[in-house]
Amino acid sequence: MADPAAPILMFDSGVGGLSVLAEVRKLLPDAPVIYAADHAGLPYGSKSEAQIAARVAGLLGRMSERWRPRLACIACNTASTIALGMVREVLEIPIVGTVPAVKPAAALTRTGVIGLLGTEATIRQAYVDNLEAEFAQGKILLRQAAPALVEAGEAKLRGERVDMGAIRAAVDALRAQPGGERIDVVVLACTHFPLLLEELTQAFGPGVQFVDGAAGIARRIATLTAGQQFARAVPDMAVTTGDIAALEALRPSLVQYGIAQIREF
Ligand code: DGL
Repeated sequence: MADPAAPILMFDSGVGGLSVLAEVRKLLPDAPVIYAADHAGLPYGSKSEAQIAARVAGLLGRMSERWRPRLACIACNTASTIALGMVREVLEIPIVGTVPAVKPAAALTRTGVIGLLGTEATIRQAYVDNLEAEFAQGKILLRQAAPALVEAGEAKLRGERVDMGAIRAAVDALRAQPGGERIDVVVLACTHFPLLLEELTQAFGPGVQFVDGAAGIARRIATLTAGQQFARAVPDMAVTTGDIAALEALRPSLVQYGIAQIREF
C-alpha cells in the first residue's frame, strides 16, 4: 500500500502539464502532487526523438528516486508519444501518458474533418499514425505543428500578453490545408494548448469544438490509485530544471493550481 504522503509526479517540459493537473485536482483534491517542469529542455517539440527520450527517461528516473512517487504522469504529448514505452520499461511505478485525443475527436466530428495541433515532434510520430488508423478511419485528420503556441502558453501563465498574431497564424496554416475549411473538431495534442482555449476559440471562430486528453488522464490516475490513502505531509511543490527566477515569474499562476512552494531540481 502506498505511503499516504507519497506524491503523484506530474511531468512536462514546462507549464503545459498544469492543464492536466487541473483535471486531476477535480477528481483527487487530496492527492499530494509534485509538478516538474523541464524548463532547461523546453521546447521539446524542436528536439530529436533521441534527445527527448534521453531527457525524459533520465529525469523521471532521478525524480522517482528522490521523491518516491506512487505514480508518474507524463503530462506532455511530445514526451509520451516518444518515450512512454521506454519509461515504463525502467520505472517500477505506474506511468500514465498523454495521448492525442483522436478517438473522442473522431466520435464528435460531423464533417469528417478533424484538425490536430501539436508540436513538430508529436505530429510526425508513428504513434499518431496508429491512432489515426485505429480511430479515424474514413475521416480526414489534418495535422499542424504550432510551436509558437507553446511559448504563448508559457507567456500567458507568466502574466504576459498573448501574441494573438502567432495563434492566428497557426490556425490559418491548419485551415489552409486541403479540406481545412471543413474542420469542426480540433485535437489539442499538446498540453500547453488548453491553456489558450479562449484565444483558440476566438481564432477559429464559431462551429469548432476542442478536445484534449486531460479529463481522461485524470480518470485513469483515479482508477490506478483507487483505494489508496492520500494525506499531504508537505505543501504541493513545483520544481524546474531551469532557472528558479523564471519559475518565480509563474508563481501567481502556480498558486491557482494549488502549488504552494517552488524549487530548483
Ligand atoms: N507540453 C508539451 C506537449 O504536450 C510540449 C511542449 C514543448 O516542449 O514543445 O507536447
